Amino acid sequence: MKHEKVEKHVGLLALLMVLAVSIGGLTQIVPLFFQDTVNTPVEGMKPYTALQLEGRDVYIANGCVGCHSQMIRPFRAETERYGHYSVAGESVWDHPFLWGSKRTGPDLARIGGRYSDAWHRIHLINPRDVVPESKMPAYPFLAHKTVDASQTPKKMQALRSLGVPYSDADIAGASAAVQGKTELDALVAYLQGLGVQIKSKR
Ligand code: HEC
Repeated sequence: MKHEKVEKHVGLLALLMVLAVSIGGLTQIVPLFFQDTVNTPVEGMKPYTALQLEGRDVYIANGCVGCHSQMIRPFRAETERYGHYSVAGESVWDHPFLWGSKRTGPDLARIGGRYSDAWHRIHLINPRDVVPESKMPAYPFLAHKTVDASQTPKKMQALRSLGVPYSDADIAGASAAVQGKTELDALVAYLQGLGVQIKSKR
């Protein structure tokens, strides 16, 4: 029997499996590259400011993504709590994206504007000052480290080469915009911009 032949030859089986998975994968994944809904930024979206961009790097460097997702799924339990579900157009300029998959803490996709800057500063320096039962680590050192302003224009240039619409003026002004700012300033600016393009119900 032909099928028996396939089952008894590991090499042939592996080859045919790879072939089947590739065809399935290609037909599902490749069309996404050409779909407007996943390639077009949502209306009114602006690229991260220089300070927000540095804040995003602070977020990555400190492993926030290990406890916080940025991906609200389209289920009632999620949208009631966090607001409008995440759409692909909100992530088109994120390289790399920070959707995450672990929620030790709440989802942060729409945290922008939910608390004041002052709340975030206190919370990041010591979460227990505002949320007594919090298990989140404290990040007091962020207030003492300044952002390396010499790197910001280069980061923006790299992102521009990936399609993020930064203008020459954005890049020229980037160092001045982050000069003397602390990592805490940058992180708070980043958090306050998250998910604000789509108005949430909360
Ligand atoms: C070990 C897991 C852990 C890590 C790492 C972590 N957090 Fe949290 N975070 C939590 C938990 C748990 C909460 C809920 C309690 C609270 O509000 O403090 C929380 C809450 C928050 C909130 C408030 C969310 C809301 O909707 O009320 C923000 C904002 C936040 N974290 C930002 C950050 C940032 C930025 C970082 C990285 C610098 C970070 N977290 C790292 C666990 C973590």
